[in-house]
Amino acid sequence: MQQLIERIKRDGVVKPGGVLKVDSFLNHQIDPKLSYDMAKEIHRLFENEDVNKILTIEASGIGMAVLTGLVFDCPVVFAKKSKTINLSDDVYSTTVYSFTHQVSKQVLVSKRYLNPGDRVLIVDDFLANGAALEGLCDIVEQAGATVVGAAIAIEKAFQPGGAKLRERGLRIESLARIESMGEDSIVFCKE
Ligand code: G4P
Repeated sequence: MQQLIERIKRDGVVKPGGVLKVDSFLNHQIDPKLSYDMAKEIHRLFENEDVNKILTIEASGIGMAVLTGLVFDCPVVFAKKSKTINLSDDVYSTTVYSFTHQVSKQVLVSKRYLNPGDRVLIVDDFLANGAALEGLCDIVEQAGATVVGAAIAIEKAFQPGGAKLRERGLRIESLARIESMGEDSIVFCKE
């Protein structure tokens, strides 16, 4: 999506260790107009999939997920990260390991909000190693629902998550795919 790519070029800051900071429009301060345009693009990509629920994970994915739910006219569920292992019977849960932060977290969704028969579109801001996306797919499967695909704002295509999950048959649509990046340049995949 050219508009997002231009914004990353203009305002993205590459930090040492391969981290792209996009705090000024996506991760800390949110640009609602850009997020709404991203949501409309996601709708264009998945409009024939009978999506009836959007699923994301707290925290940074929630903003764009809500706007995506607005365009699809369906509820938005976000998985909660929990530090406690005391799980009740009324939640689906899985463990997600964050490579960036080097910690494992339990991720929970109440059974009330995901049901068999749901057609779920997963939305998230970043795809890097794919652990978060894998965890969300696991939760949807536990619910007996169907993942129709994943819509991602920024995919770091030089990290293994996207390739690994596409190989398993998951449809992933990323609005901006980064092939490589250094402190002075960001190279986007040509598609
Ligand atoms: P994964 O989500 O693809 O498995 O990757 P990883 O474990 O490496 O990412 C851990 C966290 O860091 C995730 O957010 C992910 O969205 C974020 N992240 C990964 N690469 C980048 C990057 O280059 N820039 C930025 N800004 N974020 C990145 P999280 O810890 O789950 O939490 P939250 O920030 O959504 O609360």
